[in-house]
Amino acid sequence: MTNHFIRIAVAASLAIGAGAVQAQEPIKVGLMLPYSGTFADLGKNITTGFKLALLERGNKIGGRPVEFVTVDDESDPAKANENANKLIKRDKVDVLVGTVHSGVALTMARLAKRSGTLMIIPNAGADELTGALCAPNIFRASFSNWQTGYAVGAMMAKKHKTAVSLAWKYAGGDEQTAGFKEGFEKGGGKVLTHLSLPFPNTEFQPLLTQIASLKPDATFAFVAGAAQVNLVKDYQAAGLRDKIPLYGAFLTEGTLQAQGAAAQGMLTVLHYADGLNTPRNQEFIASYKKAYGVMPDVFSVQGYDSARLFLAGLDAVKGDTSKLPDMIKAMSNARIDSPRGPLSFSRSHNPVMDMYVREARGNQNVMVGVAVKGLVDPSPECKM
Ligand code: BEZ
Repeated sequence: MTNHFIRIAVAASLAIGAGAVQAQEPIKVGLMLPYSGTFADLGKNITTGFKLALLERGNKIGGRPVEFVTVDDESDPAKANENANKLIKRDKVDVLVGTVHSGVALTMARLAKRSGTLMIIPNAGADELTGALCAPNIFRASFSNWQTGYAVGAMMAKKHKTAVSLAWKYAGGDEQTAGFKEGFEKGGGKVLTHLSLPFPNTEFQPLLTQIASLKPDATFAFVAGAAQVNLVKDYQAAGLRDKIPLYGAFLTEGTLQAQGAAAQGMLTVLHYADGLNTPRNQEFIASYKKAYGVMPDVFSVQGYDSARLFLAGLDAVKGDTSKLPDMIKAMSNARIDSPRGPLSFSRSHNPVMDMYVREARGNQNVMVGVAVKGLVDPSPECKM
């Protein structure tokens, strides 16, 4: 054999060797989510949703098993750098999935952008994630804060002339409020004032007293997780519910049982509604109930769709995660038949989707209309 043929044979056997090794190596998924604190249930439901999509594929893609590395981010921005670096540098995950809290997600995205690690955001709405911080390797499978706030504002403008907004003072609250104001005022409404409290405080009473004296036609609020139970109950106890209706995006999601009568009849706007009557959603609900014995919520759907988006990339390269540019191309063009309805992605990798009006009835947020069809976050700051 000439030297030339020996070199080709050695190179070929190394290539086959590398392929074979990769075929057996697990695909590593880093889940950085809140498993404690006010957003714990959100983190749990995103995780079950994500894992279900992989379970439906036998937890094996292109012959490679899927392995999860999990970190509780505690919704604490001060710990975000260390937690994300553990997954990126120590565990060398193939995809970084996280998180719920916008402030934590912003740190994760900066690290993902710098390291080139594929990142999928299964909740956090910070506009910057698919705005100024956008990057080819960063995708969001949930919503932007602008999107949800804007859609609630558009719906409220059809019913009311004036409103007050109330939100936690952090990126999530500030941006939901800005989106709401844009949607409400574009529809002819006027926001009288904005009230805020620090994250994750639940001392709403002084703010409710202010709302009572301002007498707006309606209130828009953004708090989420366990805190939304306190807000909706306190609002009712303060005697405001029947005089000044309370609206929001997440206010009744996953918490109707705990909120009881205080939430019944409330209107919210989100990209999912309980029991949406489509074959795809019914199939998803059956699969989720079989696996976990409970009904899914919007956070389960966001986790599920995050995994479906990752699968679109993995399928395009038959599980070979070293072909990241090909994965990114397939993910950018993905058209997902989601439980929420058709789901595609804008040029900034943010969801394009319908926003539903839901009414709280019993333990369900039932779809009663469409607030905005195919809502696209224009992401003007995204240069990619
Ligand atoms: C956020 O921080 O972006 C967020 C948290 C919970 C629900 C929705 C948005």
